[in-house]
Amino acid sequence: YVRDGNLAAEAYEIRILESVIVIKFSDEAGRFYAHQTLSQLAEAEVMYCGVIKDAPRYEWRGLMLDEARHFFGKDQVIKLLDLMARYKMNRLHWHLSDNQGWRVEIKAYPQLATVGGVGCLSDRKAPAKYYTQDEIREIVAYAAARHIEVIPEIDMPGHALAFTKVFPELNGGKKTVNPAKKELYVVLETIMRELSTLFPGRYIHIGGDECPKIRWEKCPVCQAKIKELGIKGDEHHSAEHYLQSYTISRVEKYLNERGRSIIGWDEILEGGLAPNATVMSWRGSAGGEEAVRQGHDAIMVPNSHFYFDYYQSLDVDNEPFGIGGYIPVDLVYSYEPYTEKMTEEERSHILGIQANIWTEYIKTEDHLQYMLLPRMTALSEVQWCQRENKDWDRF
Ligand code: ACM
Repeated sequence: YVRDGNLAAEAYEIRILESVIVIKFSDEAGRFYAHQTLSQLAEAEVMYCGVIKDAPRYEWRGLMLDEARHFFGKDQVIKLLDLMARYKMNRLHWHLSDNQGWRVEIKAYPQLATVGGVGCLSDRKAPAKYYTQDEIREIVAYAAARHIEVIPEIDMPGHALAFTKVFPELNGGKKTVNPAKKELYVVLETIMRELSTLFPGRYIHIGGDECPKIRWEKCPVCQAKIKELGIKGDEHHSAEHYLQSYTISRVEKYLNERGRSIIGWDEILEGGLAPNATVMSWRGSAGGEEAVRQGHDAIMVPNSHFYFDYYQSLDVDNEPFGIGGYIPVDLVYSYEPYTEKMTEEERSHILGIQANIWTEYIKTEDHLQYMLLPRMTALSEVQWCQRENKDWDRF
């Protein structure tokens, strides 16, 4: 083993000679990835002499697991982390709250888990299923030992039914929270404070997607808040969109002051981005392209290429029932985030690539693995390989 400070972050080199293998690495992640590659090579009957020089294209190599719709539990998350490590991925984005369930224990509000964690999409009366804080710490540590950062997502102000079940007074209608209620920010800040102690990484994902604001239009406290803030709708966005931006910016400010950064789905562009937010571009790549134009960081997770809950084949009668869509493995492999007109500066703001596995229709481990593989291997190549080194036939 040779530590080599000239290598890029996470990079490694392996020299396989007849009687010795020499590994050069830049940092502990690089050393870890060299081991992953060697263990893959060791699965063949013969290991050939040669030299491997390797480094990732992107720093964000993510996978998102939705455990709000169906809960899988610790053992399956551990298996997923093992699989991610094998393919040199380094960000587990954990979707822990949605309409169908709240899956993380919050000590200040135990009912979020014990009441908000009751039910899932296939069984509304299923007993509460959630991660205790001890389990979260165990999983975060297991991930960290494999150079994987875990990013929790608490989805708001939409997708919030499990939350408003526990806090009916903060209900904003249509599965949203009420952004005008002072108490909302007390509760959200308390949740964020606890999450910050559980998840030591830089980022917390605050959701922001698909929030219907229609009830806010008729809600007197929302309208009073809009007036108080001097918000006005314009030709781009409604006043309610700007109100959502206010909510997200407030949570961002709270987290920024504690040294954390937020990520939000690309809807957070509507009504103006919170000052330091990273955009996760899911409705295609356009949101990410707009974010980097505005000088923000972006992570590309377009549902055109990386929604692993979509079908893998057109022969859907012979597939497990799913949400729709069609994303075969070669489509995953073909993704390229840079556009012709994107400047170098803009490109540098694309942190990386991620796939999402939503679990409305996925409730078993077998089904989960079936949807992940082999697409996850193609994802890994998109995340890791330089453009000029990608080759579908070789893959
Ligand atoms: C999303 O798929 N609603 C982010």
